[in-house]
Amino acid sequence: MQFDLFDEQRNLLFGAPTYADFKDRLAGSGCTKCGLAESRQQIVVDRGRPGTGIMAIGEGPGAEEDRQGAAFVGKAGKLFDKVMASVGIDTNRDMLIANVVKCRPPENRTPGKAEAQACLPFLEKQISLANPAIIILLGATSLRHLDPEKKDFAMADEAGKFFALPAYPDRRFMVLYHPAALLYNARLKPDMWAHVQDLKRELDAMGLPRN
Ligand code: URA
Repeated sequence: MQFDLFDEQRNLLFGAPTYADFKDRLAGSGCTKCGLAESRQQIVVDRGRPGTGIMAIGEGPGAEEDRQGAAFVGKAGKLFDKVMASVGIDTNRDMLIANVVKCRPPENRTPGKAEAQACLPFLEKQISLANPAIIILLGATSLRHLDPEKKDFAMADEAGKFFALPAYPDRRFMVLYHPAALLYNARLKPDMWAHVQDLKRELDAMGLPRN
């Protein structure tokens, strides 16, 4: 893996002892590992709380996230807050939310493979420091980049599934529709509702969230 960051800065970043240190260092790194650096306003690391055992991963920041410097604070994020609140999960208190890429793709396009690959070490470090027992993959981009075996698939077949990935031992994964998909296609809502009920049962069985 090649890094544009100077070695010293890279060591400081990846040597961060705590999640909070890592977040501060990444947000202030001025990373230029991919072209998204040219158009972003800020590096958007996350929203919520690490250490609860629950993490969700979306695609990348949109306009509002880029402006506020926090993940899922726009329309899709507000809908996700409501979906999770329906099963008693407060997205700020009970879970951590991050994205495959930390900088807004222009026009909110899907991040390219090279952009996602450049950013993945940051997400992996986030996962290892936050140490979630369950990781919710929001939408196809998140599933595609976390599970390299997934190439051609339909979200209708994947949403609602639980699975394990060898690269992340001891963590459970679940796929949900991306909340933005629900904004465009209200017919997905009943399925999403059923999936979050399943998620809630799983969280209860796993004793999550941790305080
Ligand atoms: N969509 C995402 O995937 N992530 C965000 O942070 C906002 C919208």
